[in-house]
Amino acid sequence: MCGIFGSINNNALKETYTGLKRLEYRGYDSFGYAALDGNTVQVKHQLGTLKDDVFNSDVQFGTAIGHVRWATHGEVSIENAHPQKSNGFYVVHNGTVNNAPHDNLDTKWIAQLLNQHHGNINFVCNTIDGDNAFVFINKEDGNVYCVAQGNKRLFVTNNGYVSSDLNALSGFSSTAHILQNDYCQLGTWFQKNVPVPKSIIEPIGEHMLDEIKQQATLDTTSPEIVTSDHVDIIATGSSLHAGMFGAYSLEQQGISTRCIHASQAPYYNLRDSVVAISQSGETKDIIGAVPKIFTCLTNTPHSMLCDMSEKNVFLDVGPEYAVAATKTFTMSCIKLGGPVASMGDQIDDLMGRGDEIQDIAGRIMGYDHFLFLGDEQNYPIALEGALKFKEVAYVHAEGMPASEMKHGPIALVDYKVPSLFIVTENFRPETISNIKEIKSRRGFVVVVTHDAVRDKLEGLADIIFSCKDTGEQYSQSLVCNVVLQLLAYYIAVGRGINPDKPKNLAKCVTV
Ligand code: F6R
Repeated sequence: MCGIFGSINNNALKETYTGLKRLEYRGYDSFGYAALDGNTVQVKHQLGTLKDDVFNSDVQFGTAIGHVRWATHGEVSIENAHPQKSNGFYVVHNGTVNNAPHDNLDTKWIAQLLNQHHGNINFVCNTIDGDNAFVFINKEDGNVYCVAQGNKRLFVTNNGYVSSDLNALSGFSSTAHILQNDYCQLGTWFQKNVPVPKSIIEPIGEHMLDEIKQQATLDTTSPEIVTSDHVDIIATGSSLHAGMFGAYSLEQQGISTRCIHASQAPYYNLRDSVVAISQSGETKDIIGAVPKIFTCLTNTPHSMLCDMSEKNVFLDVGPEYAVAATKTFTMSCIKLGGPVASMGDQIDDLMGRGDEIQDIAGRIMGYDHFLFLGDEQNYPIALEGALKFKEVAYVHAEGMPASEMKHGPIALVDYKVPSLFIVTENFRPETISNIKEIKSRRGFVVVVTHDAVRDKLEGLADIIFSCKDTGEQYSQSLVCNVVLQLLAYYIAVGRGINPDKPKNLAKCVTV
């Protein structure tokens, strides 16, 4: 997490703002920059999300480095915001330093080491332990230096830009060099480069709703990813749920599939065939868990995981700026499990029924605890729905198979704990009993289903929301999931939360 951007070009400060704006998904606890003009360095820090006026200046700086922070070491405060300074060394940093002295902020320590050892990068790299990337201005020689160690990388361009990700360099350079386990002075010419995307969707205004909407345009075809008759899927969060969703389809195709939390994978004897799912391609838990040979399913070309893998399959859904995974989740489900029926009309229809969904959100937004229930491929949808509620609406929600509810969680059910069922045509008869069991304990029940099933559920629940039919179960579940995404979005907005930047989170979890 944390984003770094720097420039040694005319208008460096404004360019740094533009770059950081594109990197804000990596952290938004605080931000700061250092800009150099001749012998003067201007440094500013502020808490919260980026503000462009903080980057206004009468001086046309020719050197600037900036940072958006997701706090790891040290609380969120102006003192801990980057850049950290020690005499003439100004440092912005991403990653963790495992051996930083307890009484010292890790980034501050890097600045102090640089200062004490006259900018000796080799010494600093040999002293600090961990995966980290840092960029610093040395005021004395007026240069910017970039350093990347372990599994952290930086993208540096021959024309003097540095960034934590490739997309943020769009428009600044057509190619970039991947700096890893290496360092350089910014502006060094590298022969080996990768292309920078020509244009990207600029992060302006709200993203989550827009990204939910973009799901109507997703290509629902998919290549065959798993060629073996058994596979292990490794992922975290929404990507793990996508793996679990795809697993149902793979199992039906005769492929024995295990889904493993990346953080737990080191304790498994993994099978020969492994698929790692990570939209960012940067998640540390996965990088630390993958075997030598694996297939990577990601939205981020040239990410660390991509380069480690034998084979890459790209989601190709464009950048996802909202912290909550929406379109990348849906596309991961499609790419892993195989093609699904098209669902453009059905999702467009949902987007046109925003008032209806907002109304349901209004009826349930006063509750603090939710159960999400679904069987078969709707079980991972239940987990995913619960995760969206937690992360963007800040309510406690638990997802589980519908039939699991009576093995304990039903003890929680009363009029204060609503249950959301996801019911598609392949539902088990027991699902009806599960709904009745909750109703008879005064639980409030919302069912998200589709038109072909609605009649069979009439009268059972407090609210039944029915989507248009797709005619195929996997796409149908993904359409129902869009309703859950919209409910989480509307509850967040209703509770005054910015759904794009929920507290304590960042888009890529690199620590
Ligand atoms: C949920 C969410 C996280 C990520 C998880 C994995 O909306 O965004 O749970 O899914 O951190 O991230 P990637 O896919 O980048 O490895």
